[in-house]
Amino acid sequence: MDSVLIIDDERNIRTLVARVLGQDNLEVHTAGTGKEGLDLAEESGADVVLLDLRLPDTDGIQVLRELRARRPETAVIIITAFGQIETAVAAMKSGAADYLEKPFIHLDKLRLAVARALEEVKARREIQRLHATEAGKYQIVGESLATRQLRDMISQLARSEAHTILIHGESGTGKELVARGLHYESARHTAPFMEVNCAAITETLFESELFGHEKGAFTDAKATKKGLMELADHGTLFLDEIGEISPASQAKLLRCLQERAFKRVGGVRDIKVDVRVITATNRSLEALVKDGRFREDLFYRLNVIPIAIPPLRERRDDIVPLARYFLAEANRTFHRGIRSFAPETERLLASFGWPGNVRELKNLIERLVILGTTDTIEPGQLPGQFLGRADVPVAVETPGKLRTLAAVELTYIVSVLEHVKGNKSEAAKVLGITRQTLRKKLAEGPAD
Ligand SMILES: Nc1ncnc2c1ncn2[C@@H]1O[C@H](COP(=O)(O)OP(=O)(O)OP(=O)(O)O)[C@@H](O)[C@H]1O
Ligand SMILES: [Mg+2]
Repeated sequence: MDSVLIIDDERNIRTLVARVLGQDNLEVHTAGTGKEGLDLAEESGADVVLLDLRLPDTDGIQVLRELRARRPETAVIIITAFGQIETAVAAMKSGAADYLEKPFIHLDKLRLAVARALEEVKARREIQRLHATEAGKYQIVGESLATRQLRDMISQLARSEAHTILIHGESGTGKELVARGLHYESARHTAPFMEVNCAAITETLFESELFGHEKGAFTDAKATKKGLMELADHGTLFLDEIGEISPASQAKLLRCLQERAFKRVGGVRDIKVDVRVITATNRSLEALVKDGRFREDLFYRLNVIPIAIPPLRERRDDIVPLARYFLAEANRTFHRGIRSFAPETERLLASFGWPGNVRELKNLIERLVILGTTDTIEPGQLPGQFLGRADVPVAVETPGKLRTLAAVELTYIVSVLEHVKGNKSEAAKVLGITRQTLRKKLAEGPAD
């Protein structure tokens, strides 16, 4: 449902607007102060914001600017006092979509202004979507506040000229995805995205890979070769696992970033390029700097715009949307038709720790889709560590999807086995059966 937020300190206005727009089948949120409004705009993902410029806590224009910065895709309609045309003009200049005059808000005008703003928002989104068919491949899925902010930041950065961006996050959190998203959403998308994994190349190779070499620069240099930096001109160079580069490579990279120019190995000529450098690391560069293993000056050069991607366990609202997205994707890839997860399965997924982050979730869903035989993925199909968790009731059944006692029993046995790290004598003791019985039950499998 399209959503509208009204920020106004007058309760009467809030109630009136909420009632009128509510009738138009819109989801309406209300806030009485600028601060509350800004928070709610992000939380509710408002498509249109109606903003009173006279607020008790802050200057309305300031709130408008903040809204435009944080949520560029949201349309803001301002409410001014009657006759304050200069204020309205100032607001339009700061990016408001339209304005309405108080105290006498004409209800049809209100409706029309909101409908028009919604149309604009949708048209803009559609253009963006078409424009970004390539970017669509690098869609950042998730509903958590952190991920929504990340998406906003990516579209903001895509439109900016910021030259160096450092992405930090645990393994599997989506660093490479974000780097590619940044490139394909930006005006640079018509030029190449070049990448190099710094952990995978040697110190000597680093320099010639990055800067290229002249013919005869070293024994194997049979011909002149352009480096990635040169190939990425007008585009993006992605240096993955930047924490792994040697001190010598750090010095060379620093010089290149400072001067925005470099020489090919064995070359004399300075080559100037226009390249956005995105680096990524799953280690703390600050810690490496403290240990003296990473140059502080290079760190500051790279860290102009830091992007921190939180681990999946700290943005649990992303888990179910991601799981559903990967389910659809895996169905397409593997030509399967598994429709959904049982509600209990989703609950278990959402409460898991995900040490391997999004990559681990994606791999699991693929495995479930490949092995799945039913329409719905049941909790019993999840690996033992999901079912063996102490804070999760084991084998809770959902009505309508009843299973045999033997199947439930087996699920429980497996979870106990996980719990005692596979020790069968221990498991038998916990279960109150003999080892022989345990072995027999495991051999028989479920009687489904
Ligand atoms: N928010 C997301 N939406 C959709 N897919 C995602 C998301 N985050 C990560 N993925 C997917 O998860 C997988 C892992 O992501 P990615 O390779 O970008 O992680 P990484 O942080 O670079 O990991 P590593 O540090 O191990 O290199 C990829 O297949 C990626 O497409
Ligand atoms: Mg990566």
